[in-house]
Amino acid sequence: MKFSTAVAVAAIASLAEARQCANFTVPVQLSARNGVFNQTTPVTNIDVTNFFLNLTQQGGNYSAATLTGYRTVSGTYNIEATYCRPDNGSANTVQVLTHGIGFDRTYWDVSYNNFNYSYVAEAVDTYGYSTFSWDRLGVGMSQHGEPVNEIQALLEVDALRALTQMLRNGSIECTGGRRFNKIVHVGHSFGSDHTYALTAMYPNISDGIALTGFSQTGTFVPYFALGGNFVQANTMPALSGYVDGYFASGDPTGAQTNFFAPGMFDPNLLTLASTSLGQPVTVGELLTIGAETASVNHIAKPVLIITGGRDVPFCGGNCLVAPPGFSSIPQQALTTLPNAVNGTAVIVPNAGHGLNLEYSHPFTYGTINNYFVQNGLGPH
Ligand SMILES: *[C@@H]1O[C@H](CO)[C@@H](O)[C@H](O)[C@H]1NC(C)=O
Ligand SMILES: *[C@@H]1O[C@H](CO)[C@@H](O)[C@H](O)[C@H]1NC(C)=O
Ligand SMILES: *[C@@H]1O[C@H](CO)[C@@H](O)[C@H](O)[C@H]1NC(C)=O
Ligand SMILES: *[C@@H]1O[C@H](CO)[C@@H](O)[C@H](O)[C@H]1NC(C)=O
Ligand SMILES: *[C@@H]1O[C@H](CO)[C@@H](O)[C@H](O)[C@H]1NC(C)=O
Ligand SMILES: *[C@@H]1O[C@H](CO)[C@@H](O)[C@H](O)[C@H]1NC(C)=O
Ligand SMILES: *[C@@H]1O[C@H](CO)[C@@H](O)[C@H](O)[C@H]1NC(C)=O
Ligand SMILES: *[C@@H]1O[C@H](CO)[C@@H](O)[C@H](O)[C@H]1NC(C)=O
Ligand SMILES: *[C@@H]1O[C@H](CO)[C@@H](O)[C@H](O)[C@H]1NC(C)=O
Repeated sequence: MKFSTAVAVAAIASLAEARQCANFTVPVQLSARNGVFNQTTPVTNIDVTNFFLNLTQQGGNYSAATLTGYRTVSGTYNIEATYCRPDNGSANTVQVLTHGIGFDRTYWDVSYNNFNYSYVAEAVDTYGYSTFSWDRLGVGMSQHGEPVNEIQALLEVDALRALTQMLRNGSIECTGGRRFNKIVHVGHSFGSDHTYALTAMYPNISDGIALTGFSQTGTFVPYFALGGNFVQANTMPALSGYVDGYFASGDPTGAQTNFFAPGMFDPNLLTLASTSLGQPVTVGELLTIGAETASVNHIAKPVLIITGGRDVPFCGGNCLVAPPGFSSIPQQALTTLPNAVNGTAVIVPNAGHGLNLEYSHPFTYGTINNYFVQNGLGPH
């Protein structure tokens, strides 16, 4: 393990010249109650489309219809992570960053345009936080697995639990054995679902959460599932190492529909999102996505929800058309977090689901970090 210096964007660097980052592998002990689904692994791309047509059929619940029981999955799994800190030493507060479907942990530290789009650069160089980002169990450089009955939402949430406890108890070597007593969690999309599920199960594990690209409305998930033009990931050149049952957008159109709003992005980022940044999703994740945010979350800490006004999967393309009494669909989601301290919902005007990749990212990043600072969760 060695630290390397990433060049900070001069225009936004105020506290530090350059952040120090290291990549490393963390073995974690996991145990979760997984679903057992009567679902064969799709093989051809015709099977893949059939699976999505089954998953999204209205008037039924395909996940519930194919669930035949539960089993406990446990073992040691390797997680790939990146720890970054200001160059003058670790902050007191670490932000744990969990990415969503379609990406790996580089979603938080996009190098394009001299790291202008990097959330990590903003949090570390401008605000002085330390950050810990990880590849979801099953994707990227984290350990892969069997895609139907093993790589599912709750096993990944248990990985987030283990990593968080290790950051608290000083057993992650790359942080210099630091015991963080202030830990906030930031998720995107499926990573926000994991953050929600983690804190619903363990309300005291986090000191504050920011759920980006999030709401509690499942109605529009089929738009994402069908709009993504998903194919077997291993038919894409960059993802040939994945076994059948891992799916990725088959063309840039799928990535555009799901992550980018009209007029809000540099086309080069769409190209990146559908090539080098793109990562898959498993059958098992898609079958367990609905259940993980179903319970009420009693976290009694600061909670921010921030979602693009034109988000497709969580708002159907318009977050401001909300049920009576709510100013937005994400604001309605705060009702499932009844004990949240200063629970706040923010809409990023005109932005799509892939907030970190759009022109509006400075507003998004400023809102998140200022929220933490203004709610007693600053870096020191
Ligand atoms: C860490 O890994 C990522 C993804 O492979 C890579 O882009 C980055 O350059 C690596 N960073 C360091 C400090 O080695
Ligand atoms: C599994 O699904 C098939 C149809 O796809 C059905 O014939 C079979 O009875 C199901 N098995 C169980 C255990 O539910
Ligand atoms: C889709 O559902 C049908 C039953 O409605 C089943 O026979 C078929 O195996 C399913 N296909 C896939 C790929 O899930
Ligand atoms: C690093 O610099 C920042 C900004 O000057 C300061 O607030 C912080 O305490 C410093 N950290 C350490 C570990 O010296
Ligand atoms: C730290 O937390 C991890 C995850 O819960 C646990 O496995 C490990 O035993 C703990 N280590 C110490 C030194 O408490
Ligand atoms: C969380 O912490 C609060 C305050 O210390 C305590 O009252 C509560 O019992 C804890 N909840 C859980 C689930 O441990
Ligand atoms: C589908 O069923 C699962 C349980 O198998 C449940 O957790 C989920 O909320 C249901 N989804 C919908 C949209 O009702
Ligand atoms: C960084 O991105 C913002 C928002 O898109 C843009 O206004 C700014 O010019 C960019 N800065 C650099 C140095 O590219
Ligand atoms: C709530 O958070 C906002 C930042 O979004 C901050 O300005 C405000 O002071 C906070 N309110 C309370 C009561 O802490």
